[in-house]
Amino acid sequence: MRKPIIVANWKMNFLRDQADLFLQKLLARLGHNQTVEVGIAAQDLFLPDLIKIADDSPISIVAQNAHWENFGAFTGETSPKALANIGVDYVMLGHFERRELFNETNSTVNLKVRTALNDGLDVIVDVEEMEQVEPVLEGITEEQMKGIIIGFEPTFAIGTGMSASTKGAQDVAKRIRKTVRRLYGAPTAQAIRILYGGSVDRDNLADLIAQPDIDGSLVGRASLDFQTFWELVKIMQRAAVVKK
Ligand code: PGA
Repeated sequence: MRKPIIVANWKMNFLRDQADLFLQKLLARLGHNQTVEVGIAAQDLFLPDLIKIADDSPISIVAQNAHWENFGAFTGETSPKALANIGVDYVMLGHFERRELFNETNSTVNLKVRTALNDGLDVIVDVEEMEQVEPVLEGITEEQMKGIIIGFEPTFAIGTGMSASTKGAQDVAKRIRKTVRRLYGAPTAQAIRILYGGSVDRDNLADLIAQPDIDGSLVGRASLDFQTFWELVKIMQRAAVVKK
């Protein structure tokens, strides 16, 4: 059974106190319920605080990007090794906004995935289309695939309020799993978690997560309001019980 996961992608939002308070409230509500993994992807500046607050809790702290080198003359960049060193759980790589606004390509995303895995970080690697799956995984071993989650986020759906149809999202997730099977074999394909992202909200999450190949969700806009995000977590928790 693949553990469902919901990740709040806060993008470049909130100030420090707001981020801290959000996480404190989330921890208080979640209690010991671990049916669903909950991740918070925050700007680098907030990560040390969030790691401290989430210490000993089931909440995973996620960085939104990292460089492909660990050290060197890369002014303004963040080292994946430094992220691992402070206790970050996952790094998200290849998000559409990184590709669109900061010129990231499949090959830079692939370099980043390799370094992050070598540093001991788990990776949420985002793709917007099927064609990106193979190039971003190039050179990743079957063993390393245990540290990978694939996020499928169609471009038209990100931040637009227009989610992919449930059937469309399931079809792509199924094809991604098939590609993973071709590249790594059935056990890896069976184990890997595939997330859908793009205008996930209260109206569409239950249907999306009920799909056999969708194991979770990446939530942008709807993760910025605590009450809304908490409702999404509860939808995931109910779905997890049914899916078991
Ligand atoms: P959205 O963002 O939920 O606002 O569409 C999703 C994402 O970019 O991960």
